[in-house]
Amino acid sequence: MSLFRKKSVDVIIEEAARGLGDGHESGEMKRILTTRDLTFMGIAAIVGAGIFSTIGGASYSGGPGIILLFLFVSVACGFSALCYAEFASMVPVSGSAYTYSYVAFGELIAWIIGWDLLMEYAIGNIAVAISWSDYFTSFVNHLHIGSFRPHIPEYLCTDYWTARAQGSEEAIAAWKTAPSLGSLRLICDLPAFLITILITYIIYIGIKESKRSTNVMVILKIGIIILVMVAGAFYVDTSNWTPFLPNGMGGVLSGTAAVFFSYIGFDAISTTAEECKNPQRDLPRAMFLSLIICTVIFVAIALVLTGMVSYSKLNVGDPLAFVFGSINTPFAHSLAMIISVGAVIATASVLLVFQLGQPRIWMSMSRDGLLPPVFAKMHPKYKTPSFSTILTGVVVGVPALFLNLNEVVNLTSVGTLFAFVLVCGGIVKFHNDPNRPQSKFKTPYVNGSVIVPLLFVAAGICMWVFNKNGVTTFFVLHEHIGPVERITLSEKVPYIGFAIVFFVTAVLSAVNKFSLIPILGFLCCTYLLCESGTTNWQRFMLWLLVGLCIYFLYGYRNSKLARMQRAKEL
Ligand code: ALA
Repeated sequence: MSLFRKKSVDVIIEEAARGLGDGHESGEMKRILTTRDLTFMGIAAIVGAGIFSTIGGASYSGGPGIILLFLFVSVACGFSALCYAEFASMVPVSGSAYTYSYVAFGELIAWIIGWDLLMEYAIGNIAVAISWSDYFTSFVNHLHIGSFRPHIPEYLCTDYWTARAQGSEEAIAAWKTAPSLGSLRLICDLPAFLITILITYIIYIGIKESKRSTNVMVILKIGIIILVMVAGAFYVDTSNWTPFLPNGMGGVLSGTAAVFFSYIGFDAISTTAEECKNPQRDLPRAMFLSLIICTVIFVAIALVLTGMVSYSKLNVGDPLAFVFGSINTPFAHSLAMIISVGAVIATASVLLVFQLGQPRIWMSMSRDGLLPPVFAKMHPKYKTPSFSTILTGVVVGVPALFLNLNEVVNLTSVGTLFAFVLVCGGIVKFHNDPNRPQSKFKTPYVNGSVIVPLLFVAAGICMWVFNKNGVTTFFVLHEHIGPVERITLSEKVPYIGFAIVFFVTAVLSAVNKFSLIPILGFLCCTYLLCESGTTNWQRFMLWLLVGLCIYFLYGYRNSKLARMQRAKEL
């Protein structure tokens, strides 16, 4: 059935080498990235708004025990990274999970993943741009250069909806001071728009410029983070680590989407496969290195943060600057300023890597006829996908002017987890396929036929024990996070769904001797999906529905035509 028509790796590599083959200039990109550059890009994409911002809310609800969630999510990401690495080594072209799904599952699933990655990259970047603007504005407004005190007017750095809600001093000021056009107040987040345009310009003029900017930003932000860890260690009061789980596991797990958001990014470097010197060797290495380095950083930062002040004070948007700002010494205050600079640099580098990744996925989708040919058009001089790069700038920059997208952090996590689930599922499928394509890097095969069913039984026993002790610690948040919330039936649906998926996976593993590591990646990511909240699920489903409509109205027919056209050319 053509809906599930797959592509062989040879065809994909051949098409990537030819470019679109429709009369555009050469499709070849510049192969200049090494393991070091890719590792830097991984760190650039991972360390950003998550560790500088969303860690605050997660630590507030989870307490010091939030490090358990950081460790669990890093293990889940580690399993997924192995699967990404195997695919990147098997199909070294730009499309990332989109192209991998085309090889493993066929066109329809590939489209769904391509559409889903739009959520991870473009929508996630809107949130990152807005977060960059918050840090930048706060940094500029705290500057004292002699008698000069710069100030960005509130109505130029706040979105319309936040200003209208008038929930903070800044929002009230933005609403009151904004110029009006008739009854409409002119309020927008200009810095978020400008940073997106600047980053898009760097990406447009070339991969070399993007590489240089990334390397500089990563060195700066790692330097600042090491400074925070070392300086913070001197202010740690170990009594703040007790109680370790003030709100039980329920409190820790409520930070799942925020913590997972911190780790998103190692997957994004696979979109540069056509610009790597040796993608089959370097991409797997870079993914692991960046993931390991970031896990160490995250756990250390979480320990310092929850050790410096009580977890109950951490529900702020700039927790790292806040903890140092609350210490009454000039040195700590200077550190708070340095941290704000670090956050500005860190979020800018996340923007850069995701702005780089999005056009490259569109380029791959366009080669397959799922998007118009112009999406794969290459700039004759800069050798970058020019139209897609500009469009990414517009798609991220314009909404960043007007929207308040804090909630989109969660939506981005759901979209990314969905991609991880499919990539792990693809490797499970390939490990059982005697005709699978060759790959230089292979996820080690461990027979899961006994271990997966045993894990299912063990998980069942754990759940029973938790239930026996009362659902309070597991499903109900402690009173001082907010009102006590009893889990409702609709909130239980994802858990019931997970139990069914786990059971079916255990049975299939026993029967088919499934490979353990990708199965563990699949199960961990499915579980994290369950923890991501029903509302986010509903929004995600709506997003997929819109994507399916576009596929059936355009992609399905056009990819068929593109295939016929290619067959004629050969
Ligand atoms: N991991 C990236 C960040 O935290 C998305 O900004």
